[in-house]
Amino acid sequence: MLKIIKVKNYEEMSKEAAKIIAETVKARPNGVLGLATGSTPIGTYRKLIDMYESGELDFSELTTVNLDEYRGLTGENDQSYYYFMHKNLFDHVNLRKDASFLPDGSKANAQEECKRYEELVKNLGYADLQLLGIGRNGHIGFNEPSDVFEVTTHCVKLTDSTIDANKRFFESESDVPREAYTMGIGTIMHARKILVIASGVDKALAVRDSFFGPVTPKVPASILQFHQDVVVVADEAALSLSN
Ligand code: PGA
Repeated sequence: MLKIIKVKNYEEMSKEAAKIIAETVKARPNGVLGLATGSTPIGTYRKLIDMYESGELDFSELTTVNLDEYRGLTGENDQSYYYFMHKNLFDHVNLRKDASFLPDGSKANAQEECKRYEELVKNLGYADLQLLGIGRNGHIGFNEPSDVFEVTTHCVKLTDSTIDANKRFFESESDVPREAYTMGIGTIMHARKILVIASGVDKALAVRDSFFGPVTPKVPASILQFHQDVVVVADEAALSLSN
């Protein structure tokens, strides 16, 4: 079932998303939380940190898995998702050091690394809740528009649209990695609950096509219409092209 929660703006989206994540963590304190990077979840992470600081939320028994990582970047690189997650969440809450997982971008053997990560997520029992941003082209994780839904963790070549969207974080466009390791659509769909967050008019087309259009690998997020428990928290601008 797909539920859409319309909120006023980014701040309200962040509050609502953090509330939903907190409910899951409180219900399953030793569960698995699937996390995402990008500018959209930063406010949500800030709210989760506030809840931790006020004593409302405890991360000490939780395990986290992230969707994706750039291939070729080590954790020390300030553009790696490893670095992002530490800076925006992990360093500020009481997660155990060995309880947070991402694909390892420093591993050059793509096949091996993807197999390792898929097995790891599977052995954890997949995510209780997977948080997702949505790309302007409808991608989730780094599952880009394609002719097929890739099922398991795999290595992708990033599209021009994604490289263009991400170049703002790098000194020049040529520094943006061209490949990434990402959970597959199947890995994501195994999550018991999926929480999609979207803010801003830039996402309006992707939100409309993903949740109000046909299910197609040309719009990867559209597959979420087949999931049994999806909540989309989107602001008015992101929903401006949807009814
Ligand atoms: P953004 O990215 O949050 O930086 O817009 C979302 C995504 O591409 O998944």
